[in-house]
Amino acid sequence: QTQFAQIRDRSLYIDDVDAMDLVKKYGTPLYVMSEGHIRHQLNELKTKFLDKYDHVLPLFASKSFSCLEIYRITSEFGIGIDCVSAGEISIALKAGFDPHKIYFHGNNKLPSEIDYAIAHDVDHFVIDNFYEIELVEKYAKKYDKTIYATVRVVPEIKAGGHGYIQTGHKDTKFGFSARNGIYLKAIQQIVDSAHIEFEGIHCHIGSQVFDLYAYISAMHRFVRFAYEIYDQLGVMVKVINAGGGYGIAYTKKDEPLEFETITSEIMNIIKDGYDKRGWDMPMVLVEPGRYVVGNAGITLYTVGSVKDIPDVRTYMSVDGGMTDNIRTALYDAQYDGIIVNKAYERRDTKVTVAGKICESADIVVKEIMLPYPEPGDIFAQFSTGAYHYSMSSNYNQLPKPAVVFTYQGKSKLVIRRQTFDDLIAFDVQEDYQ
Ligand code: LLP
Repeated sequence: QTQFAQIRDRSLYIDDVDAMDLVKKYGTPLYVMSEGHIRHQLNELKTKFLDKYDHVLPLFASKSFSCLEIYRITSEFGIGIDCVSAGEISIALKAGFDPHKIYFHGNNKLPSEIDYAIAHDVDHFVIDNFYEIELVEKYAKKYDKTIYATVRVVPEIKAGGHGYIQTGHKDTKFGFSARNGIYLKAIQQIVDSAHIEFEGIHCHIGSQVFDLYAYISAMHRFVRFAYEIYDQLGVMVKVINAGGGYGIAYTKKDEPLEFETITSEIMNIIKDGYDKRGWDMPMVLVEPGRYVVGNAGITLYTVGSVKDIPDVRTYMSVDGGMTDNIRTALYDAQYDGIIVNKAYERRDTKVTVAGKICESADIVVKEIMLPYPEPGDIFAQFSTGAYHYSMSSNYNQLPKPAVVFTYQGKSKLVIRRQTFDDLIAFDVQEDYQ
């Protein structure tokens, strides 16, 4: 991790910007994203993968944090992106992202989305199902274009921080099963399609993964798939996309794997497997999301009500909640944080940080030791860069917080705070017809 966030001079500094100044300038709740950390992580993808090996491409899984600015920054590093909807693609294109470096994912890409993507020169698809093969062929023909396909195959591996973020196990909605030769039928159908070129296979085992062995076994399985595809269909796997899911540290208990450890294992296993057959290395893709933006985010909240439940705990409510952070309720996610204006006080109170939403599940941090809180304190929740803003909602009609980037001692607004007018921006008054 980088040292972008530091406690000093009685405050919290993010990229050398005082968090209390950000609160004064932009209000709370506020998503702060360290551009310093994002650039550091993107640079890791570039120097430790893209520049290190021949014939590789890292992708940023942009569902983790998607807005114009992140696509602009990502494009500077020469890497690609993973998009999962025409909406994400439209924002990336607006930001000037090269459509040929966009990889379109998803288990139910809509006909309108496939049409949109192909019309806008997106030509890499991660194909998930038989219906999609038909649709991609139809729209590629319509625009007389060639689509390069990787086929998502289920490796049947259980990995990931929570049941809801496991994707590579047998019983999943994602990808083609390898059972009964189903994925081979899909590949044959693609090979037979006039406008789709089969390139290779894709897997994503899950998210927030700390288990190196899960990546190792997935890659061994993928080498065997490559053999099987060649032996059964006479088709070469020229691209292997090993997915993302690299776990980050949310609390001190988490012990993330090094990016280089995962990628060198992936490269070695594929190289050994291909060498055994005397084949050239395929192109290898990885697609982390959380790894790039997760630790870059800090959410700043203002504390409101404080309640003591005798002998149990103290509830401290903040001015946001599950609308800006759904992860605690959804995945039982754990977080660390501090009271910024009490950064030097003893953390002697067992606190549950609650939101202001009318739901018992609306908890921001389940349990954390903090100095005794009071109304008006500023709570900073750490590691909120991935799947916070991108999963935010307007439940209870809370306007979404602003997103501010910090870099080298300065801050700038990247997404403005929503207003009450924004809350009714899509409401219309129509007569029945
Ligand atoms: N590739 C594919 C095909 C994916 O489905 C995902 C995430 C990624 C890459 C990036 O995974 P990452 O490196 O960010 O773990 N909302 C959940 C995570 C859901 C991830 C969905 N797919 C959370 O907040 O933990």
